[in-house]
Amino acid sequence: MAKFPEGFLWGGATAANQFEGAWDVDGKGASVADVVTGGDVNTPRMIDPSLDPAKYYPNHDGIDFYHTYESDIALMAEMGFKTFRMSIAWTRIFPTGMEEEPNEAGLAFYDRVFDCLRSHGIEPLVTISHYEMPYALVDEMNGWEDRRCIDHFIRYAKCVLDRYHDKVTYWLTFNEINCGLASGGASTSTGTFKGYTGPRTELPFDLSVRYTAVHNQFVASAKTVLYAHEHYPKLKIGDMCIYVPYYYRTCAPDDILLSQQVMQRVNYFTSDVHVRGYYPGYMKRYFADNGITVKMEEGDEELLRAGTVDFCTFSYYMSNCVSCDETLEKTGGNLFSGVKNPYLKASDWGWQIDPKGLRWSLNEMWDRYQKPLMVVENGMGAFDKPGDDGVVHDDYRIEYLRRHIQQMGEAVEDGVELMGYTMWGCIDLVSASTGEMAKRYGFIYVDKHDDGTGTGERSRKDSFYWYKKCIESNGQDLA
Ligand code: BG6
Repeated sequence: MAKFPEGFLWGGATAANQFEGAWDVDGKGASVADVVTGGDVNTPRMIDPSLDPAKYYPNHDGIDFYHTYESDIALMAEMGFKTFRMSIAWTRIFPTGMEEEPNEAGLAFYDRVFDCLRSHGIEPLVTISHYEMPYALVDEMNGWEDRRCIDHFIRYAKCVLDRYHDKVTYWLTFNEINCGLASGGASTSTGTFKGYTGPRTELPFDLSVRYTAVHNQFVASAKTVLYAHEHYPKLKIGDMCIYVPYYYRTCAPDDILLSQQVMQRVNYFTSDVHVRGYYPGYMKRYFADNGITVKMEEGDEELLRAGTVDFCTFSYYMSNCVSCDETLEKTGGNLFSGVKNPYLKASDWGWQIDPKGLRWSLNEMWDRYQKPLMVVENGMGAFDKPGDDGVVHDDYRIEYLRRHIQQMGEAVEDGVELMGYTMWGCIDLVSASTGEMAKRYGFIYVDKHDDGTGTGERSRKDSFYWYKKCIESNGQDLA
């Protein structure tokens, strides 16, 4: 059995908007997540800022972690978590994003959460922005397309770094920054929510706007890294990207080239900028060939070079294929769809399950960056049903995780420097892509349903005990 390093950070991952609930409590403002309705695998979520009372907005209540954090964290401690990935809701701290002074009630909440984690010996890993920018910034200035967002974000980032630097060592600037580039994104009227950072829904999809919005986030991230390094040198700041291998479906040279180009644009572009500190040549060519103009200002390039991250993190759920042959069967996926892989099975949401792809991805990322890596999301969304004994017997989830953790161990044996692993949605929460509760990932079952009903009661699934053994044995006991 492959060995994991001493002090390996085993844990779970969440995002504020998907589980805190209490969306308008104690001065919190509406985030982009709060204006998105529920959906399912066949029904896209809708961005509807009117907050129509006839519609259901699942992120408003989440699973109410805001009020249950103490008992939820106690359950994570029972599993032996070494780390817990969570995000701070920007709108708890700056409700519209534009205030000069922070909301003390919001800051106090995260003090309580971090203190509680520390009292259990759990290291917080904090994403500063995980799909929850203030909706007011979208309304007022079209979100990240507008450079003024950089200053608003920096005010927020400095505020949380100043407040929590002695409680939180590991920080990530933006969750899956590359999602903001997905063509099925939120600027269509039926847009998906993932990566939604503006512009407003009525505006047409425009790649120059999308890339400019991502550029502004790059600048904001670099400034955050520089501020942290200057003021709090012991802090470690990472980036976070979605990583989906795009294998070539055939060995036709055109397919091989296409696979390389898709890998560059979808998976590597954003981490290349975060880690290497400059725009890669392949993107400059892509922009020129496609008439894309990224609005930059003088000094941006220097900032990007100076503000590179200390470690690299990514989410890994599935892999895809690509081919120039348009007739091949397609498959869905974590935002970016592709060509079906005949060797892989898929989840009920069409995400192709590929544990060996994780080993491959870790090796690719390590070869490219030579920076410590962390898998900060991985897991299986499934329909869980408690059995007659009231317990969820999720052997399918155990099987998914076992195979991925084994492959992660193989990557460590290959020489990859891996810091930790946080399984996504360690407690059931609202799905980002579909807004469902029915798409469950957790070790901990939450009695909450797609229509908002349920007692909210928590219970341990079989995978809870399995993961506890995995952590206790530092990844050796996966039986
Ligand atoms: C990642 C996101 O892409 O995938 C999470 O960072 C998200 O926010 C996770 O929840 C799983 O996706 P979904 O759509 O099944 O919730």
